[in-house]
Amino acid sequence: MAKLKKKVTLPYAPDANLTHEAEALGTNRFDDVYYEHSTGKVSGITQEGKYKFVVHTEGKAELNLEIWNDSVVRLRFSVGEPGRDFSYAVSDKAGPQDAKVGMEEHKTHYLISTAALTLEIAKADGQVTIVDQSSGKTVHEFAAPFYGRSTLNRGLEQVRIQLKTDKSEAIYGLGDKAWDTNLQGTDWANWNEDSFAFGPQHKTVYRSIPFYYGLRDGIAYGLFLDNTYKTHFDFNSHKNGLTTIWADGGEFDYYFINGPQLNDVAARYHHLTGTPELPPLWAMGYHQCRWSYYPESRVRELAQSFRDKKIPCDALYLDIDYMDGYRCFTWNKEYFPDPKGMISDLKDDGFHTVVMIDPGIKVDKDYHVYADGMEKDVFCRRTSGELMVGPVWPPECVWPDYTDPYVRDWWGPLYKELYVDQGVSGFWNDMNEPAVFKVNHLTFPDDVGHDFDGDPTNHKKAHNIYGMQMTRASYDGLKALKPAKRPFLLGRASFSGGQRYAALWTGDNIASWEHLQIANRQCIRMAISGFSMVGTDIGGFVDNPTPEMFTRWLQLAVFHPVMRVHSMGNNSDGAAEVEADAVKKAEEANRQDQEPWVHGKVHTKHNRKAIEMRYRLLPYLYSSFQQHLTTGVPVLRNLFFYDQTDANCLKFGDQFLYGEDLMVAPVLKKGITRMQVYLPKGEWYDFWTGDLHQGKQKITAKIKKDRIPVFVRAGATLPMVDVVQSTAEMRTLRNLELNVYLAKEGSSTFYWDAGEGYGYQAEQYTERTYTIKRSAKKISLTQTIKGEYNPGFRTAQIRLAGLTQPPTSFSVDGKLKTAGIFYGKRAVMVTVPIDFTEITIG
Ligand code: NOJ
Repeated sequence: MAKLKKKVTLPYAPDANLTHEAEALGTNRFDDVYYEHSTGKVSGITQEGKYKFVVHTEGKAELNLEIWNDSVVRLRFSVGEPGRDFSYAVSDKAGPQDAKVGMEEHKTHYLISTAALTLEIAKADGQVTIVDQSSGKTVHEFAAPFYGRSTLNRGLEQVRIQLKTDKSEAIYGLGDKAWDTNLQGTDWANWNEDSFAFGPQHKTVYRSIPFYYGLRDGIAYGLFLDNTYKTHFDFNSHKNGLTTIWADGGEFDYYFINGPQLNDVAARYHHLTGTPELPPLWAMGYHQCRWSYYPESRVRELAQSFRDKKIPCDALYLDIDYMDGYRCFTWNKEYFPDPKGMISDLKDDGFHTVVMIDPGIKVDKDYHVYADGMEKDVFCRRTSGELMVGPVWPPECVWPDYTDPYVRDWWGPLYKELYVDQGVSGFWNDMNEPAVFKVNHLTFPDDVGHDFDGDPTNHKKAHNIYGMQMTRASYDGLKALKPAKRPFLLGRASFSGGQRYAALWTGDNIASWEHLQIANRQCIRMAISGFSMVGTDIGGFVDNPTPEMFTRWLQLAVFHPVMRVHSMGNNSDGAAEVEADAVKKAEEANRQDQEPWVHGKVHTKHNRKAIEMRYRLLPYLYSSFQQHLTTGVPVLRNLFFYDQTDANCLKFGDQFLYGEDLMVAPVLKKGITRMQVYLPKGEWYDFWTGDLHQGKQKITAKIKKDRIPVFVRAGATLPMVDVVQSTAEMRTLRNLELNVYLAKEGSSTFYWDAGEGYGYQAEQYTERTYTIKRSAKKISLTQTIKGEYNPGFRTAQIRLAGLTQPPTSFSVDGKLKTAGIFYGKRAVMVTVPIDFTEITIG
């Protein structure tokens, strides 16, 4: 019998894998059969309690609506009844709270309103429109009804909404995509992927952050899709005026977050998905890593070189070769006969040791982690019941199912020996996408089962949160083992909300000028997507940087919250056996050292200067981090977060703000001596020269080899300290520098605490706000102090920038000061007691 082909045209099949060519083998049998679902007519809306609305529909798809506050609304489209109300991303501290809620029925639609938003739900088909009341502008507008598709063979395979957009709408965020700042006109997917030597065009990278900002007509909003399946975001890539967002299963459960300022959206997203705790101060120092430093003598020699060369450093990392045959939680005793002794000596010299822990556990019945895990049945199994076994560093691994709370509790205590007994300070969770070698799809097959916190499912649903749950298990474990210490964990894969558990680095980048730019974009993008504690492999992981490129990277990374050099190419040969050819070749070509002194005298000097700058600025950087935790505003922000009405702020996409007071213009090109810098509104001081510039203008900055352009907001007071060789030495400092950048008025806040532990939660911190007021006759700088921590500083050395002539009088708390005042070219310096209340300058 002749084959009868029946082509099925789907209304929107944006993914090439989803072409449905149903093939009729007989007259009424097909390869697959699909069903489409929508809301259909809305027959009514009922309000349940104060904040919840159930939209009754005639179609199979349902809509539940929750008002979380006046500016955040949750819309939950489900095919059939909604499932369990559960989220890995949303913080347990968030939830529906006070809002002014109203509902009206009109002829064609229902109106649900809060104090900031109006939602219109069309009676004809359940389409949603949202208006920002402050501007009266529409910020969210369906272009088609909600769509769901299931097939007989595959089950529910797509849930989707389509929104109106156009090319003037700017799109930001979405995690770690390496693309340009604005994502309008592009399309992306979220599926955590081991992305060795990734590039800007990679649709999926290591993390899934299904959250973006839209800036439409000057009004900002955010959309967070809380769905752990593979998610897709097409921002008008077909130039059809549509943003299409879909997930490969589950519910279309999303939060609409109103602005109207980008900063408002950032803060609300943060509140929703949670902020991390303050990192230990040492985590914000300079870190040195490579794949791998071993044996012990090499590690000691490395530490000694930092101290001999007077290049500050706080942490040394041990990559997989410290382990015994890639068995996590063990040591290679030949390389490291006495880990405890080595770690303790390093600590005495101001170095913290950070070691790698992977999720892949070697199959070896004589290895305690494997044996115990088998006994307790903690490893992932396929739906057939077989163990999921595959190659990573060891040729055969099994993987704990971190989505099971029992397994998370089993995992945490495994850190005891390293963390409690041997003194390792921090951990590095790698390969947790989870990465699997040898197979093209780089990870588990879909039929691997996961507990999903008591709601068993397959890998399709659990893949994107596997890495995040690993870092959660590690973080909770570390906290339980040493409750008085702030855990430091560096992770690779994650999901929205993962910022609560681990800092991130952007993964296996390349030593190239293009990647230097990507590094910066990714850090800013990650920060505005919830992960402020972020950094890159400085100098590039793959290939070797030129001396100039390495220096520029370090100079930039002074302003990335995680400052860590890392490179590949000194791993023991065992790893190569199981790696892909590309990785093997890259390693061979990449044996060059990447410490700050390897490029000769001149570059060593520049590199030292950059790292010293990091330490000099640590009081400011740490304060900015603390501020981020309280306000939810990211530490790194694009200029348009500062002024979203200024088109130039979008154009100068590589420039960024670090905290409230510093603006950085990275040097991303080889050999340049001049560069255009954009100064947004206000007034800005050149950090290096003290020159004052008016904002809202482009200036040509002269580019020097030993620095990159940095500007300080006029009105700011920058707290800085003398250079130390590690943060441990900071406790001995007795003088704090306060660099005051004069303006008519302005203020800054300096935050300081023990840098470790939780004393700060019991008033053991000091928060000092410096306020400048300048009139024609006098300048005053006042200090208000909160908290009970004694920071150890006895004096404040005040440096005033921006004086046009020497002052005639100087008094501290009403007492005239005549001695000890130094007049520089454009600055005045004077040392005063740290707890002063007011300084007046006539
Ligand atoms: C992959 C990581 O991305 C890289 O940083 C690390 O050096 C290697 N795994 C070896 O552990």
